[in-house]
Amino acid sequence: MLHEKSLRSHIIKRPEKIQVRKPQWTFAEFVGKEPRSEFGRMLFGALSLVFPEGERFFIRSVKHFAGEISDATLTQDIKDFIGQEAQHGKVHEIFNKAVLGHDYNIEPFLAWYKSAMFDTLEKSVEAVFGPKLMLAVTAAAEHFTATWAAHSLGSGYLEEHVANQNMLDFMQWHALEEIEHKHVAFDVLQEIDDSYTLRAAGMLYCATILPFVISVAFVSLLINAKARAPKSGSNIFSFLSDAISEGKNGTLLTSFIPAVLAYLKPGFHPSDNDDYAVARRVAEGIEQRMVNVA
Ligand SMILES: [Fe+2]
Ligand SMILES: [Fe+2]
Repeated sequence: MLHEKSLRSHIIKRPEKIQVRKPQWTFAEFVGKEPRSEFGRMLFGALSLVFPEGERFFIRSVKHFAGEISDATLTQDIKDFIGQEAQHGKVHEIFNKAVLGHDYNIEPFLAWYKSAMFDTLEKSVEAVFGPKLMLAVTAAAEHFTATWAAHSLGSGYLEEHVANQNMLDFMQWHALEEIEHKHVAFDVLQEIDDSYTLRAAGMLYCATILPFVISVAFVSLLINAKARAPKSGSNIFSFLSDAISEGKNGTLLTSFIPAVLAYLKPGFHPSDNDDYAVARRVAEGIEQRMVNVA
């Protein structure tokens, strides 16, 4: 069986500090307002619906092994990782309830998602394969969020298309923190068990489930439109043109297979992709504005 720690002889870069930020956005200015792109909001909305319960799963799976980590830096990183993910879940839930909940019936998806993916699937798979696999799934999921984050911060797409500063800050805040903590679940997994097979099994599970739940969330927004239903129907052409425009960004789809292949390379480490400078640059602007909203 292949064990990976010995494959990494190079120095692995990590951020100086994982900063837990506590933004106070209420999103009141977006409630009932026309989005810049209906398709874009549904796509972001699908991710936003998936995040909170998914992030609670990430926290559970890492916390399970926190007591077994002896390295003081990694122990602090685990605390900050939990702090960041808890904030992400909290803020996305505020957005989901206030903005998405105003225009779409989001409850059926949320109820199905929690019951099917966590109360049933997570519990069953963990009972058979153990909590190490759940940690490996989280490490893989964090690779996807970090990949999408790096793309969204690096491409300039969000700055170009999202005019509202609070919405831009919201999207970029989550993205930059995904970069800051991208090594944590991975390093905990390596400390607990550095088996390549286990890491690859986590990716297999994640690469199957994640696109599936995001797709179900997207379709649920499409068919559960409440206040916007008549408009969405009559604006089918603008919806399709938004889809083509967002598709050119290509973040979710075109980066998926390359992300899986990069992750499956023996000896891979998330910090091999050094995108900390762009995360730091974006963080500085957001932190200054957060003083004003806190
Ligand atoms: Fe997150
Ligand atoms: Fe994360």
